[in-house]
Amino acid sequence: MMNYISTILIICLSLQITYSTHTLNLVQDEQALCLDGSRGSFYFDRGSGSGAKSWIIYFQGGGWIGGSTLEATKNSALSRSKTDIGSSKNKAQSVNIGGIFSRDSKVNPVLYNWNSIYINYCDGTGYAKDPIVVSGTNIYFRGNSITRSIINQFLDELKQADKVIVSGCSAGGLASFTWVQTIRDLLPPSVTVLNVPDSGVFQDLSTYDGSITYKNTYHTNFMQLSNKEISPPNTQCVQSNPNEQWKCLFAQYLIEYIDTPIFFVQSPYDSWCIPNILKLSCANDGTLQNCNQSQVNFIESHAISMEVMMKSRFSTHFNTGGFGPACLQHCFLEGSNYYGTKFQVPTGSGNTIAKTLSAWVLDQSVSSNYLDNVSWPDNVGCNNLSIEM
Ligand SMILES: *[C@@H]1O[C@H](CO)[C@@H](O)[C@H](O)[C@H]1NC(C)=O
Ligand SMILES: *[C@@H]1O[C@H](CO)[C@@H](O)[C@H](O)[C@H]1NC(C)=O
Ligand SMILES: *[C@@H]1O[C@H](CO)[C@@H](O)[C@H](O)[C@H]1NC(C)=O
Repeated sequence: MMNYISTILIICLSLQITYSTHTLNLVQDEQALCLDGSRGSFYFDRGSGSGAKSWIIYFQGGGWIGGSTLEATKNSALSRSKTDIGSSKNKAQSVNIGGIFSRDSKVNPVLYNWNSIYINYCDGTGYAKDPIVVSGTNIYFRGNSITRSIINQFLDELKQADKVIVSGCSAGGLASFTWVQTIRDLLPPSVTVLNVPDSGVFQDLSTYDGSITYKNTYHTNFMQLSNKEISPPNTQCVQSNPNEQWKCLFAQYLIEYIDTPIFFVQSPYDSWCIPNILKLSCANDGTLQNCNQSQVNFIESHAISMEVMMKSRFSTHFNTGGFGPACLQHCFLEGSNYYGTKFQVPTGSGNTIAKTLSAWVLDQSVSSNYLDNVSWPDNVGCNNLSIEM
């Protein structure tokens, strides 16, 4: 019997160590609502030991709502409101999250004992006071209030922090770009604020067939619907682009108004961007076999402009870091991709994201440029991935 109990104890302890068990909290602001009108929420797990005064503020991803017309965008918001990333109604009371949240110091040597706030994505972004009615249903855009409510709840502790990482993947990676300066400005200079956007660069480019730009597919309708009554969070960006505030929701324009150190986690061959921004499906099987030369060139030009953007940050800000494997991948930080050996730059070098990011978090002055110098598919550790649509 004793043996049995200790076995269970050991199993529980080892689970505890590997994952971080985050518990569900509703935001305090009663007006901070998800698309469906339920209260915004986040998962929280308190740090300990050397990590007790350091924080990860992480925005969950899930893709923006969108559509080529205003009507389509509204319908996209309505369908989203019925899912787990449009509502808090069916959220689990607790979740185990790995990757940068892992409590195992063997795979996550620096961040393993930090406090972490995992902001549940449920808002479709932006802010509008009044709900819009779609097919008889009220839809709310209160992402701005959700984020501010969470920051306010923890503000006293954050002001005492050593380090705060503002991160997230995909739409959450973009949210980390859009919010990091606001968080920086709320905290005293004694707090180091670091931006770790994962797959949050969505470039304002044309589709392969040249018919429409990404901005016009998503942003125009989206801004009209959800950002009517409030500006994007980065005030310096908004002041510099008063008539083009949409630019403050694009990393490529926004980045010059961010003064915190940035560590990009970003494949130049982002597997969301190729089918959705370039509108190319020829690489979906994970090879270039079905792409003709002009399509290959187009994918390459997208990768190059992504790299140019990151390299230019490196050239002006010596505290920049970046992990950019030449792999078809979108999002790296939440699971075993973070410490697994599939993604290494250069391939086979042992430089995983966990290793390179951890070193940078400790010291932003060491060289942390891990942007692959080969093109896809020449990083052999990850050259057999396909695009999951
Ligand atoms: C490549 O394929 C696209 C789509 O089928 C076609 O429009 C384009 O003309 C082709 N280009 C070349 C150089 O074959
Ligand atoms: C690519 O990077 C590796 C290590 O960072 C280096 O050894 C190699 O010379 C580089 N190759 C080129 C073509 O720049
Ligand atoms: C890709 O290659 C790795 C290592 O060779 C292998 O472990 C993995 O299963 C392969 N994945 C796919 C999708 O074929």
